[in-house]
Amino acid sequence: MRAIIINDMKPILLILAVLATAPAIAQDKVVNLYSSRHYQTDEALYSGFTRLTGIKVNRIEGGEDALIERIRNEGARSPADVIITVDAGRLWRAEQLGLFQPVKSALLEARLPQAYRDPAGQWFGFSLRARLIAYNKAKVRPGEIQTYEELAEPKWKGRVCMRSSTNVYNLSLMGALIDHLGEQKAEAWARGVRANFARDPKGGDTDQLKAVAAGQCDVTVSNQYYYARLARSAKPEERAVAEQVGVVFPNQASWGTHVNISGAGVARHSPNRDAAVKFLEYLTSDEAQRYFADGNNEWPVVAGVRIENPVLGEFGEFKRDRLNVAVLGRNQPGAQKIYDRAAWK
Ligand SMILES: [Fe+2]
Repeated sequence: MRAIIINDMKPILLILAVLATAPAIAQDKVVNLYSSRHYQTDEALYSGFTRLTGIKVNRIEGGEDALIERIRNEGARSPADVIITVDAGRLWRAEQLGLFQPVKSALLEARLPQAYRDPAGQWFGFSLRARLIAYNKAKVRPGEIQTYEELAEPKWKGRVCMRSSTNVYNLSLMGALIDHLGEQKAEAWARGVRANFARDPKGGDTDQLKAVAAGQCDVTVSNQYYYARLARSAKPEERAVAEQVGVVFPNQASWGTHVNISGAGVARHSPNRDAAVKFLEYLTSDEAQRYFADGNNEWPVVAGVRIENPVLGEFGEFKRDRLNVAVLGRNQPGAQKIYDRAAWK
């Protein structure tokens, strides 16, 4: 008799268990962020969202590529609601792996410029980075180099440091060059720059800036936030690196400086989809734009948002490339082929 009751109760217990979790799912009181960001200002970002919406933020942090791999492995059971990462090239890779779902939101479309989001709504750019030319002030005069194209000129033979061509920033830069110059000229550029190397590609953007400051080479390219980090560093030796380096916003007289984004999208199997969309919408608020961008010394993408970052303030206004950043992703495979043909490691 007793055994029969327990057996009969099993489905009821199951239903109770489902009901117990159902309201939490239906009300979206939590959002799971998979993020490759780890900046101090992100704390304020998340608490601001929770204060406004009552939705709790769970963070899962990891390296850019590791995070994408993790979500991929979790498949349909992934708890990921929002995926946050950097560079349109990487967002494009995640899109190609089917990790996002399209989102239609009038607010996102109104607040975010078209150039900085996926036309199909799979991912959205929330802050902006620029790839600058940096030079040793003792060896290069201001104005002596003003375009990416000039890096390939014989004048700079033995004077250029570059990071690896497999790096997504350089792939995206090549993606822009392909669009503006065409494949042939873009390849000639890669060969020219490669012929000007002072050393084989190694290290990240900060290493290139340090090599320029140390006189190992005279020019390089770097995202602005690496320079800004050095300039704002608490360590005098890092500030000294920034002081010896001048930066140029390239191509102001032509197609503008190559820009890229930090961005996010809603995960394909998001269990808290409404909360995920709300979070993306929150990122477009003036307050969130400031936290999100300033955490990494980037610019907000939403027009008219005031910034207080002293280094970005000194940079002032500049002409940005107007290319839709989705093109940078689409051109990635072609970009790598060009670098490979040019023997740019
Ligand atoms: Fe970076």
